[in-house]
Amino acid sequence: MAFSSGIINTPFEFRGTEFYSTPYIVTKFLLNRISFNKKISILEPCCGSLAIVKILKEYKYKNITYFDLHPQNKKIKQQNFLLYKKRHDVIITNPPFSKTYGLLIHSLNIANTVIFFLPLDYLHGKKRYNMFYKRNFLDKVLIFTRRINLSENPNIYILNGLMTLAWFIFDKKSVNKKPTIEFIDAEGGY
Ligand SMILES: C[S@@+](CC[C@H](N)C(=O)[O-])C[C@H]1O[C@@H](n2cnc3c(N)ncnc32)[C@H](O)[C@@H]1O
Repeated sequence: MAFSSGIINTPFEFRGTEFYSTPYIVTKFLLNRISFNKKISILEPCCGSLAIVKILKEYKYKNITYFDLHPQNKKIKQQNFLLYKKRHDVIITNPPFSKTYGLLIHSLNIANTVIFFLPLDYLHGKKRYNMFYKRNFLDKVLIFTRRINLSENPNIYILNGLMTLAWFIFDKKSVNKKPTIEFIDAEGGY
């Protein structure tokens, strides 16, 4: 089911796979707030057309693994993330929203730090509360002050979407800490 006007604008052949890209600037906003040792192993398990991977490389992260269930080109490995068992330090992705729950459980099984780009409404719901929030897996939410429109082109950054989107940072090592909220000025410089 479509969640944003970006989906409605997406070509028909992509709709079934829930493919749309994270605008490059959205990942830059994240990586200017949160940084890791450049040598840690990072997994982008639903990499689409590599929009997040490109920016991770630009920020000099050296050890990046990526694949997708429906690769956009032959250079991208085809892999169902739910069948992938190798551990990584950090997982970063913009998952297909309709499959987020299972992908997040799996991510937290194979990484301590998991960063998903999600509708802010993902904070709501009893099942999610019991599985993620009650157990204090959520560390931080970075909320964009304007609604970003998602399309298949990561160069496009238009602030007329239908959903409020945010970076959700889960960290299994900080379960004794309450989650924090920060805002990203979507119109500001990163
Ligand atoms: C919203 S797109 C995001 C693409 C990319 N992460 C980005 O931020 O630009 C979601 C992607 O998840 C992929 N996907 C869906 N289910 C998957 C699975 N089980 N394993 C791996 N990739 C999956 C889809 O093919 C699609 O490319």
